[in-house]
Amino acid sequence: MRVHPSILSADFANLERELGRISTADAAHVDVMDGHFVPNLTLGIPIVRRLAEVSPIPLDVHLMIEDPDRWAPEYVFEGVESITFHHEAARDSVALAKTLRDAGVQAAVALKPATDTDALLDVIAEFDMVLVMTVEPGFGGQSFMPETLPKLGRLRAAAEAAGTQLRLQVDGGVDATTIVEAHAAGADTFVAGSAVYGGDPAERIAALRGAIA
Ligand code: DX5
Ligand code: ZN
Repeated sequence: MRVHPSILSADFANLERELGRISTADAAHVDVMDGHFVPNLTLGIPIVRRLAEVSPIPLDVHLMIEDPDRWAPEYVFEGVESITFHHEAARDSVALAKTLRDAGVQAAVALKPATDTDALLDVIAEFDMVLVMTVEPGFGGQSFMPETLPKLGRLRAAAEAAGTQLRLQVDGGVDATTIVEAHAAGADTFVAGSAVYGGDPAERIAALRGAIA
């Protein structure tokens, strides 16, 4: 299992220090919001480039933006492990995933709570990871939506049938309680923002790991 703290809940005036506080995690989740795909605006290419240079752990970049076909490749930097774009926003998710893989980064596709898995099941081998959103994207600190969890089983079954390795990520409302449900449903990669930065990050990361150990 992997824990990816979301720096959306960190102190944006001190991002290098905030990355240092999560050095025991597996990757840092960076939420890019454009004010169009979601009703919130965060940060973009030049900041992600610098975060990738100073981070002690790899970056997991979550793009909540329109036109990811155009913009996602611009986030490929040394230190960026994976780039996640939204299926709802992409013109061609399979082509974009191929472009990202060819550029040397893991390709991931995200599904909002109301988006089903149907379009992905037959092409699951084209992705390294699927992000099943467990809240409506846009803001930290929302409540976990357990009704999204059955998607995980369908995605896992499709990956097994295709004989491919697939990471299944959940993002939104994940804490030491809800992580148990998400893990039981098949998730292996857990994003947590407020649950990590709401206390001592190293302790909170250890608690998340301990909850499903
Ligand atoms: C929400 C973001 C999440 C957010 C999660 O749109 O994609 O990554 O940081 O925050 P918590 O863990 O507080 O729900
Ligand atoms: Zn996110």
